Amino acid sequence: MYPFKDDDCDYARGQWYVAAWSDEVSRTPLERWILGEPVVLYRTETGLPVALDGRCPHRNFPMSKGVLRGDDLECGYHGITFAPDGTCVRIPSQAAIPSGCKLRAYPLIEKWKLLWIWTGEPDKADPALIPDHEEIRLEKEGWLATQGFTVMLNSRYQLLNENLMDISHLSYLHAGTIGTQAVAGTDVQIIDGPRFLRGTRRISNDSITGFFAEVLGYNGNIDREVLIDYYAPGLHVAWEIFMKPGTIGTLDTLGTDGNPNVLGMYRVHHMVTPATRDKTNYFIAYSRTFARDDTSVTDTMTSVFTSVIMQDVEASEAIEQLLAKREAAPTELLLRADGHSVRGRRKLEALMQQERAQA
Ligand code: FES
Ligand SMILES: [Fe+2]
Repeated sequence: MYPFKDDDCDYARGQWYVAAWSDEVSRTPLERWILGEPVVLYRTETGLPVALDGRCPHRNFPMSKGVLRGDDLECGYHGITFAPDGTCVRIPSQAAIPSGCKLRAYPLIEKWKLLWIWTGEPDKADPALIPDHEEIRLEKEGWLATQGFTVMLNSRYQLLNENLMDISHLSYLHAGTIGTQAVAGTDVQIIDGPRFLRGTRRISNDSITGFFAEVLGYNGNIDREVLIDYYAPGLHVAWEIFMKPGTIGTLDTLGTDGNPNVLGMYRVHHMVTPATRDKTNYFIAYSRTFARDDTSVTDTMTSVFTSVIMQDVEASEAIEQLLAKREAAPTELLLRADGHSVRGRRKLEALMQQERAQA
């Protein structure tokens, strides 16, 4: 599937993805499409989250239209009932339960305000593979993390993944909000770490955009580092470090948190979960170090980032629509600035090929 070279690549399955926000999952079954399959999410009476195949094995009725009986889920069509581990506990029309009468149960882990689902073989679901919430600053002292919003994107997930790693569009698609000309004009440095693939740009003596001048209470020029950390398959942590001018070099010795030259930092967490081949679940969260007690800053950031993110959504959907209409196979011209996106693509493609080889 474009933009992967290998046509058999669709989804990386042996992975953790964000399935939902914690507060979306309740005693009312919720359907969410994940990697081309419907999944039903609900909570037991004690509040434990459950993720089961969202398709009844009998006649394909959506399990999200079922009814909870205690901790069990009863199909709304003919009443077959399943326990939270997916085993069938009752078929109203017969006593014998055929071995194929069960639902796949997905490992699910609740962390911060998120529910992470494992879409591979259940016995390989290692919680340590979920990106560390302290490292990504969703759970870290000195940072305020806030839940953002969700978009059902009408495009294949990889268009969004590559949009998020492509910072060179900031100066054009997001001119006036988060983009300055300096961003597109600065070379990206790519760091392939053990946990994430980082693309970073260090910019000296840049002008500060209106929104950040306001929230940081700082009007002069600044140094800034703009980073995207891609945790394959579906998390991108986009962040910026604002520094006093002439001090960006101190990051190498003093780091970020606690560095006195840092005026402020924020991160935007983009969580990309394939829904189907042309639809994507897109969850957004934020964290920041500045003005943590000021809810008006949360509101302003939310409104600025909502408009920025919707520009990315529109761009990805416009590409998907064009690809869907055009009869010829997609082609593309890659530039130096696409290095990070393309490295991310190759990383994901390699994961999928590795899974196929092991299957
Ligand atoms: S379709 Fe679910 S019980 Fe018949
Ligand atoms: Fe963007």
